[in-house]
Amino acid sequence: MAQVHRIAVIGTGYVGLVSGTCFAEMGHQVICADRDEGKIARLQQGGMPIYEPGLKELVSSNLLAQRLSFTSLISDAIVESDIIFIAVGTPTEDNGDVDMTQVNSVIASIAAYSTTSKIIVMKSTVPVGTGRWVEEQLKSLVAAHLDMHVVSNPEFLREGSAIEDTFHPDRVVIGADHPEAGARIAALHAPLRTELLLTDRESAELIKYASNAFLAAKISFINEMAHVCEKVGANVGLVAKGMGLDRRIGPHFLNAGIGYGGSCFPKDTKAQLKLAQNVDYDFKILRSVIEVNHLQRERFVHKIEQAVGNLNGKQIAVLGLAFKPNTDDLRDAPALDIIAALKDRGAIVNAYDPVSTGHAARLLPEVNLLTDPYLALNEADAVVITTEWEDIRRLNWRLVRGLVKQPLIVDGRNIFEPEEMSRLGFTYVSIGRKT
Ligand code: UGA
Repeated sequence: MAQVHRIAVIGTGYVGLVSGTCFAEMGHQVICADRDEGKIARLQQGGMPIYEPGLKELVSSNLLAQRLSFTSLISDAIVESDIIFIAVGTPTEDNGDVDMTQVNSVIASIAAYSTTSKIIVMKSTVPVGTGRWVEEQLKSLVAAHLDMHVVSNPEFLREGSAIEDTFHPDRVVIGADHPEAGARIAALHAPLRTELLLTDRESAELIKYASNAFLAAKISFINEMAHVCEKVGANVGLVAKGMGLDRRIGPHFLNAGIGYGGSCFPKDTKAQLKLAQNVDYDFKILRSVIEVNHLQRERFVHKIEQAVGNLNGKQIAVLGLAFKPNTDDLRDAPALDIIAALKDRGAIVNAYDPVSTGHAARLLPEVNLLTDPYLALNEADAVVITTEWEDIRRLNWRLVRGLVKQPLIVDGRNIFEPEEMSRLGFTYVSIGRKT
């Protein structure tokens, strides 16, 4: 292996924890810091704050090999490293502005505790210009003999496949105005054998927002297309397949459904729209992408209502809470809004999710949360599918047919072929396909 670096990762959310662990796996000495003492204590024992396939094993083996450690003392992490990754949260405020409180607090700590030169790598998604601003701040705060270079290195990993995405990324983007700092961060990623794109800092910062906005646009586009398909009797799955065979379009992110959720697309699309507004530009496409995504949830509730009739007093089995499969993340999950709308209409909701039922109680106090899907389905007037978990696809649907009161499925993720469900005796309503 090339040079072993002493790396600090500040913030042990999805991005920080996965990146830090993967750098340790690559042979570096990594110290992950977070001000949440409870979380750190758990991580030190190998306990996971999130559900992410393969992460627990990787953390445990690197803890054992003493390449990875956790601390709640940010000062220790700063003192002991030459490269500091910032991976703290940058939530979006209601007006789309990015809340930089956590980033600012990390910068203050770096300025206070640095006794040697550092390369600071911004992994958090931050507005364009942040890298330049942070570098100016640091230079004005630390002793003149210390070099402080800020490099932008946006993260593109997806929840649920975070480790695979980190070790096999489509590209690594490194935005640096100081060539040597950029080259050191590029060298760190060289073992990943992927396209390394070296840019200026502003372009790197914008690539992150542009990528998420474009992916969100693909989803809203296909969701609008699904409505057209329903009106003309076409099948959106086939339309997407036919479009995706064109290499210029590509087959990915064309699954029609109930719209995007999670901690990234909703936040980053809003932030990008605001960023454009701040420079006097009305980003019309993005405005529509956000609006369509919002409407998609409402339209789905309307679809359920049309299929069931008056929802008051009806028992609805909702299958899937997480914003997508293989994660327990409920942030901006479409299922939450859909359930709230069903409750507003007087429905009794029995919900099942393979991993997030446990911590959904706080968000869904008036919902019966069940860890056994068959209990959620018992005597249901309708089955509503909101996350395309493999566990849900693999239920014994013949058995389900006997359990429910009405054999009606409203599928927001198109997980079945309509013919297959009709053969089992269900009325099957999905997105952008004939009933
Ligand atoms: C997304 C991006 O894919 C990552 O590249 C990026 O690093 C991350 O945001 C981030 O900014 O941190 P993630 O939010 O984990 O990753 O999940 P995705 O797999 O992208 O799915 C996002 C949402 O879009 C989900 O609700 C999913 O159900 C929905 N989606 C996705 C669709 O409705 N249709 C599709 O065809 C694809």
